[in-house]
Amino acid sequence: MIRAAITGIGGYLPEGILTNKDMEELVDTSEEWIITRTGIQKRHILKDPDKANSDMVVGAIQNLLSRKNIDVEEIDMIIVGTVTADYPFPDTANLVAHKIGAKNAFGYDINAACSGFIYSLVTASKFIETGTYKKILVVGSDQMSSIINYKDRTTCILFGDGAGVVLLEPNEEGPGVQDSILRAEGAGWEYLHMKGGGSKNPASAETIANDWHYVYQEGKTVFKAAVKGMSESIHDLLVRNNLTHEDIDWMVPHQANKRILSSVANYVGIDMDKVLINIEKYGNTTAGTIPLCLWDYESKFKKGDKIILTAFGGGFTWGSILLEWAY
Ligand code: ACO
Repeated sequence: MIRAAITGIGGYLPEGILTNKDMEELVDTSEEWIITRTGIQKRHILKDPDKANSDMVVGAIQNLLSRKNIDVEEIDMIIVGTVTADYPFPDTANLVAHKIGAKNAFGYDINAACSGFIYSLVTASKFIETGTYKKILVVGSDQMSSIINYKDRTTCILFGDGAGVVLLEPNEEGPGVQDSILRAEGAGWEYLHMKGGGSKNPASAETIANDWHYVYQEGKTVFKAAVKGMSESIHDLLVRNNLTHEDIDWMVPHQANKRILSSVANYVGIDMDKVLINIEKYGNTTAGTIPLCLWDYESKFKKGDKIILTAFGGGFTWGSILLEWAY
């Protein structure tokens, strides 16, 4: 049986930093409020006006390739989970393939907001498991600063920019993606969305005046739905695989809010020592959080470790993946 195993990781964070003190200058907030309500201390922001999301993705892939001895022309496919593509079309994945010289790769973007990376990883794993492809780059990357209203204190304090990527390859010895549960509930759209710029409300003077090109979020509703969605999908995944929380070595959750993560860990019964958190450094980078967390904590993982990836985001979309580490 062929499984899709992660065999390499890369990450990229732009140089610009926005601290909580900087946030105090922008909106009516306080460093203390942000830390106690979210756990975030700072975020990275892509400030170069000549650069966009695809440049962060290229940075993350170059970081991965510098640590893995593979020729870029061996890459079969690139999937980019993102809500902040460089353009409505073409897809960021196509721009990235061109920029890195991946001449033999095709690819596309997957828009599942904060669940973008897990949706992309599951999609890519099917191409590996069927034997169709041998080397797939799965990216989670978002330049949230391009769609954040820095006058809205309820959203601007949460988000940052960053990109993470994993290399997925076939493994016939057991490790790799073991199982996954992906869910969606479109009725949640009204609580978390960007209203302007699509076919429903094409860009116009009116959409700009209404701030429809920014993220809109009803935080409390999303908070509750996120805890429920992530907790239930982890629970169902464990039951389906005859596992308990004690069998899990690490949980790598989407970094939305530290309080969400502790609530999920508490509900599922996973010890907080096993929950990997880096939200304090990067904030919520949307599709970027999970691969960036894997990147930061790579040295902790051992071959055979059982890892749960879990996410919740706009759509609503959510789900969890059970992974066995391959190296
Ligand atoms: N600074 C100071 N006060 C603030 C701030 C701020 N930055 N933001 C809100 N407040 C105020 C509110 O106005 C409110 O004041 P009031 O009581 O006078 O009305 C008070 O703080 C409490 O507001 P709540 O919204 O109840 O605060 P909450 O504890 O829920 O925290 C937060 C807000 C951080 C947004 C939280 O709800 C959250 O994390 N939600 C989920 C985010 C998430 O997971 N998103 C999913 C992924 S995003 C994606 O998919 C793109």
